[in-house]
Amino acid sequence: MTSLKDYANAGLYRLDRLALRARLSLDLRAGLATLYQPNPFDPTHRQVAAGRACADRFTAFAKCLPTDGPLSTIDVGCNIGYFVFRMAERGGLCLGVDWGRNEIALARRLASKQDVTNALFAQLEITEQTAATLPTADLVICLSIFHHWARKLGLDGATLIMRRLADHAGHCLVFETGQPDEPTDWAGDLHFMGTDPDGWTRQYLTDLGFAKVDHAGKFPTSLSPVPRNLYVASREP
Ligand SMILES: C[S@@+](CC[C@H](N)C(=O)[O-])C[C@H]1O[C@@H](n2cnc3c(N)ncnc32)[C@H](O)[C@@H]1O
Repeated sequence: MTSLKDYANAGLYRLDRLALRARLSLDLRAGLATLYQPNPFDPTHRQVAAGRACADRFTAFAKCLPTDGPLSTIDVGCNIGYFVFRMAERGGLCLGVDWGRNEIALARRLASKQDVTNALFAQLEITEQTAATLPTADLVICLSIFHHWARKLGLDGATLIMRRLADHAGHCLVFETGQPDEPTDWAGDLHFMGTDPDGWTRQYLTDLGFAKVDHAGKFPTSLSPVPRNLYVASREP
């Protein structure tokens, strides 16, 4: 028999869903969060000028991943969770981490609205210390965030973080970074990559302990006509 408590809970649940829809609509239409990524659940979502297309990068790196079953995943600098949601569709437990409060709140609202229960999000600044506390996952995604660390902490500081992340990557690390050949005002901070960012990055990922480095493609950014290289570094040769 349906009790008063059941009616009350059902009514409150509906109210929550309505509030969630209203808030999501505001987030996505009024640009309240920094949308580097499109809405993962709306293929028609207009790409913001400063953002990146993500479907192309996902298709490229997914081809290099093991195909047999779900993979646990950690995405550092996950923004609104595009790649976390795509990996969650494969069934594994997936964690997105970003220091942006609005971006993490939006990712959580998307998970809630879509009833995705295996995508979790944490607002956290990634430092050497916090990176050491992450759980180990089959796949670590590290896209377009390394150059932020390198600019702020120098190569040595960024490498301390990357070593921690590599330690937590059970099978693979997906990696992309801003490059010194991009005509930006910070490109000079990446001078340590020399004139061959592709060769430098392959060697860097190998030195982090990965047996194989696949080049998954080159993908445009909104910053310049120079596309960024995308890699999948794997433990198994
Ligand atoms: C350039 S965006 C890249 C987003 C996503 N990885 C992609 O490629 O589509 C960088 C993201 O990293 C986040 N971020 C930058 N530094 C961070 C840090 N130290 N800890 C956690 N998140 C950080 C930003 O909030 C932003 O969402």
